Amino acid sequence: MADASNRSGAIDTVMHEERLFPPPAEFAAQARIASFEAYEKLWNEVAADPEAYWERVGREELHWFEPFTQTLRWNEPYAEWFVGGKTNASYNCLDKHLDEGHGDRTAILWEGEPGDTRKLSYADLHKQVCKFANALRSLGVEAGDRVSIYMPMTPELVVAMLGCARIGAVHSVIFAGFSAEAIAERNNDAQAVAIITADAGWRRGKALPLKQTVDEALKKSSTVKHCIVLDRVNEAVHWQPGRDHWWHDLMRDASEECPATPLDSEAPLFILYTSGSTGKPKGILHTTAGYNLWAKKTFQWVFDHRADDVYWCTADCGWITGHSYITYGPLSAGATCVMYEGAPNHPDEARFWEIIERYKVTLFYTAPTAIRAFIKWGDEHVEKHDLSSLRVLGTVGEGINPQAWMWYHTKIGGERCPIVDTWWQTETGGVMMSPLPGAIATKPGSCTKPLPGVIPKIIAEDGTECGPDQGGMLTIAHPWPGMLRGIWGDKERYQEVYWSKVKGMYLAGDNARCDRDGYYWIMGRIDDVLNVSGHRLSTIEIESALVSHPAVAEAAAVGRPHELKGEAVAVFVTVKGCEPSEELRKELKLHVRKEIGALAQPDDIRFTNTLPKTRSGKIMRRLLRDIAAGREAVGDTTTLEDYSVLASLRQDEE
Ligand code: PRX
Repeated sequence: MADASNRSGAIDTVMHEERLFPPPAEFAAQARIASFEAYEKLWNEVAADPEAYWERVGREELHWFEPFTQTLRWNEPYAEWFVGGKTNASYNCLDKHLDEGHGDRTAILWEGEPGDTRKLSYADLHKQVCKFANALRSLGVEAGDRVSIYMPMTPELVVAMLGCARIGAVHSVIFAGFSAEAIAERNNDAQAVAIITADAGWRRGKALPLKQTVDEALKKSSTVKHCIVLDRVNEAVHWQPGRDHWWHDLMRDASEECPATPLDSEAPLFILYTSGSTGKPKGILHTTAGYNLWAKKTFQWVFDHRADDVYWCTADCGWITGHSYITYGPLSAGATCVMYEGAPNHPDEARFWEIIERYKVTLFYTAPTAIRAFIKWGDEHVEKHDLSSLRVLGTVGEGINPQAWMWYHTKIGGERCPIVDTWWQTETGGVMMSPLPGAIATKPGSCTKPLPGVIPKIIAEDGTECGPDQGGMLTIAHPWPGMLRGIWGDKERYQEVYWSKVKGMYLAGDNARCDRDGYYWIMGRIDDVLNVSGHRLSTIEIESALVSHPAVAEAAAVGRPHELKGEAVAVFVTVKGCEPSEELRKELKLHVRKEIGALAQPDDIRFTNTLPKTRSGKIMRRLLRDIAAGREAVGDTTTLEDYSVLASLRQDEE
């Protein structure tokens, strides 16, 4: 460990991952960006003159009712892209393909949790969206109005989003697992005029009563005048005449004629609330043209999308991944998308593999938390199914431990599919760093290189730029089209959170290091760094060392106060294929010591049945810190525990 790094406040790296997987030759031969040289050339071209590049690509990729006159107006920290232009994201996702004669192409292959299926062509989707946009208008919803969406993963959720976009209403999708309190808070912050929901949605064989939760929320949401209800499950619901409207009634009366409204490039497209580490959720604002372009272009680059691909992203539209890589990116690119309503383990743990086989999915995008669950459930579920259609595998949401990466590579990808570990955030609108599957060799655990147009810089606590392998704050040096435009209704917080700590740079809130080959490794959230005897350590490196032990399914590392060391390493571990024991505890301590050094050896190891997770599947390290420090009362620490109850109590704050 380099001592010099500590003076600047850089983070030590203790992880050594040397494996390298070049793009398979047959894959590269047909790829959009087919060599490392081609990637570098493009990256350099964009970095040298971003505006010239985006001006050209913006004109080519989006439909313009009126052309823009200026590519970028940058008034730090406020960016305006494609100034003066008029476009419409719903037009780009739908009408553009119809204009080009692709109305018959399949847009959505949908599967409900009980096994019901639907297939919608681009022409079908266009018709539904036009009707729904008119339905919104019939209730008085206008351009600029905010509309909340709290729906199960049905095609109507996408119709609702695009229906809003068509008339310039601003959608705010709220994940359909949030509480009434959380919905009301979001309705009020956005001053939503309407909410779209369903009677219920299927989850693990049970009907979740969504309308009932919305009814509760609407008692505290004075701005919401209308509630549109999709009949998904045929559940009896409470009805408030005048306020509540059945989806099918509105659709029956609505016209199919609804030209997309030409909207200013910077017209707000959506607000998406994301948890701040403290305080109330932030309404991240994205606008029309720049976001739409970024979602489309990054989708094409990262997945190397071709017209005959069948693409499946397992995220929910309640998260940014569902906005950018179920809705706006793939649909703008004319992709055929699988969409699934329910849980990965219903009716059994093979559901995802069954879906891949049934639809011959070629591009598959999921989260590390899901991959770790698949590993724990056992390979037999995977082995029953033919996954040979797959050609690219993606991950997003958290770092992927090298061990889980290798499993994904061998068991799911048959050692033939490039893995794209995509680093990005709600705020960035789309992927920022990722391998390009035909161009960039992968290293397990690294998101590899920045996409064209992304200029990352890693900054130490003292403000200097970090050298190779020194961990520091990840920042982005130049505005990009998909960047957030602010926090809804809170200018100060926007400046404070993202633009105050490092001058002139967007602060991502993550730590990262760049290795000697120019590969980036995300090291976890800035707030989660451990400080052991003056050495700053990253959560993910300790966790990856634990996960590399065959008995460990999942691990979370946090710091807890320690008299001598400042902080001691405390870890929470779920095991697979064995029972927790004192011996295993000793063995794991030694294992970490051997893998990454004595400094990172855990003082405490707690075995747990499940790790507490946020609704989007991220480990709740703050809660674990409180448990490790004794600030959160829990039972006997030597036995197997389940923190999901504590997690659910603290969900709304995470
Ligand atoms: O900490 C990073 C982690 O997820 C954060 C963004 O979360 P959210 O806004 O909910 O968006 C998730 C979907 C884009 C990041 O700041 N994260 C996301 N992708 C990765 C990751 N950490 C490591 N590797 C990744 N590939």
